[in-house]
This record gives sequence, structure tokens and C-alpha cells, in this order.
Amino acid sequence: MTLRPWRSALYIPASKPRAMDKARGLDADALIFDLEDAVTPAEKPAAREALAVALKAGGHGPRACLVRINGLSTPWGEEDLAALAALRPDGVLLPKVGAAEDLSAVAARLPGLPLWAMIETPRGVLAAAEIAAHPGLEGLVLGTNDLAAELGARSRAGLAHALQHTLLAGRAAGRIVLDGVYNAFRDEAGLRAEAEEALAWGFDGKSLIHPGQIAPVNEVFTPSPEAQAAARALIAAHRQAEAAGQGVAVHEGRIVESLHVAAAEALLARATLAGPR
Ligand code: COA
Ligand code: MG
Repeated sequence: MTLRPWRSALYIPASKPRAMDKARGLDADALIFDLEDAVTPAEKPAAREALAVALKAGGHGPRACLVRINGLSTPWGEEDLAALAALRPDGVLLPKVGAAEDLSAVAARLPGLPLWAMIETPRGVLAAAEIAAHPGLEGLVLGTNDLAAELGARSRAGLAHALQHTLLAGRAAGRIVLDGVYNAFRDEAGLRAEAEEALAWGFDGKSLIHPGQIAPVNEVFTPSPEAQAAARALIAAHRQAEAAGQGVAVHEGRIVESLHVAAAEALLARATLAGPR
């Protein structure tokens, strides 16, 4: 698995040629080529074909290319898997995962391909720890629209427990965890506020539906120059205290221990990963 940023993951309906072509020039960290809900049943075969053409042509540069397939209990899942065997994207995203066995079924068919699980049902949330621990799993993606519908939740606050539970499960297994989408794609202020919240909760990034959402979300998830300078100052203060034989440093009125240094180093590493390509 490659070390890379996961700030922004854009869904691209494989049924939309203009969107598929545009993908190669967008600044998203990841592209999620969708064969599932953004594609109507009638469009599924053509979308699968267009996806094959796009992935064979390549040109997606450093962007992670994931494919969201249809569930294996649907009429399209098997054919999606068969198509992917010849394509080998960077990962396969399985919708509505409810148990670790759902992932094992995909792993058996596509051995070695990094697995991603959508957590978007109450059952999936409750089984998140077991799903996150699957050895082939790279990351979890929240499906907030499905989850809200199934819970009957009418606000982000109503999803908070499920989101944080999933994040906890992902972190316990050392996985990447991406927040759900922000539906009002022309409302940049609302998107920024939700992305800031996702960052504060601990998510690695956010899934997106429109190219206009990429820049604001990348910005939110990239440590600012000020945050980087503060991290360097904290590390320096700790080093100085250590050199003076003290285990605990005091920097700007707060104690600094090695765990704070580790967090500061992680922030600098995230900044480096997010740096200009
Ligand atoms: N990925 C790549 N390109 C996209 C895109 C996407 N998700 N959404 C829009 N674009 C492109 C359009 O093709 C258009 O390109 P063009 O200027 O070369 O023609 C450009 O961005 C501007 O699009 P715009 O006119 O603002 O939006 P729209 O009305 O065409 O589409 C949506 C709006 C929401 C229907 C569309 O963004 C979309 O289909 N998003 C993905 C939805 C999805 O995947 N849902 C499932 C997961 S929740
Ligand atoms: Mg869904």
C-alpha cells in the first residue's frame, strides 16, 4: 500500500463520459469511479465498458483510482468483479458492507487488490470493528446519505455517533477513514464547515460529488503554514528540554511530552504528503 494523501475522494459516475475525461486533470487525491448508485440499471453495461477503457488508457497520475462496484447480491456485482480482474485499479470499494465475510467474498475473487468498505447501514456500523480488522482492508468510507435514510436521521448531529463509532473502529485497526459527501455542492461555506468538523473528529479526508468541492476540502485537510511552524517550534522546544535533561518541556504555557512530538511529526508528514506534486 502506497503512502499518499486521502484528503479528497471524488465520486465519478462511470456512465458520464465528460466526467470520466475530466478526472485526469482534477486535483483530487483519489477518484472513486462509480458503477453503483450513480449509474442507472440500464447504463450499467456501458459504464463498465467505459471504466475499462478509461483505466486501460490510464493518465490518472498520482491520484488513487478506486472503483465502487455493485453489491454481490445485486444483478451486477459478479460482472463488475469479472471486469475488475483484468483492470487492477488501486482498490475496490464495496457498498453496504455488513460483515467481514462480505469483504472475504471479494478478496477471494480479486486476491491482493486493496479492499475498501462503505459503512452506510446500521448493521455495518455495528460490525465496523470486525470489518475494519479484515486483513485485506485499506480504508472505510462513510455513506452518509444511505445511513441517514436508514436511521431516519435528519441532521449531521443525528449521524455523529455512527460516524465516530466507524472512525474508532478504523483507527483501532490502523485504517484510512473518509467522511461522507456534502450534498449541496454549490454551498462552499457549508462544505468547509463540515470538512472542518470532519478534520476535528479525526477523519483522513472527505468523499466528494463535484469537482468544485476539491479545492476547499484539500485546503481544510492540508496543514497550514502556521500549523507547520507551530509543529516545528514544539518539536524544537522538546528537543531543547531533552538536551537539558528534562523529560517534560513547557512550550507556550503547555506541557509537551513525546506523544505531542509524535503528533507534530505526523502533521508535518501530512503536509509533505499533501505538498505540490
Ligand atoms: N466528477 C468529474 N467531473 C464532474 C463531476 C464528477 N463527479 N460532476 C460534474 N463534473 C463535471 C461536469 O461533467 C462538467 O464538466 P464540463 O464543464 O466539462 O461539461 C463540470 O464538472 C461542471 O459540472 P456542473 O454543470 O457544475 O454539474 P452537473 O450539473 O453536470 O452535475 C451532479 C452535478 C451532482 C449531477 C454531478 O456532479 C454528479 O453526477 N456527481 C456525482 C454524483 C455521484 O457520484 N453520486 C454517487 C455518490 S454519492
Ligand atoms: Mg450508498
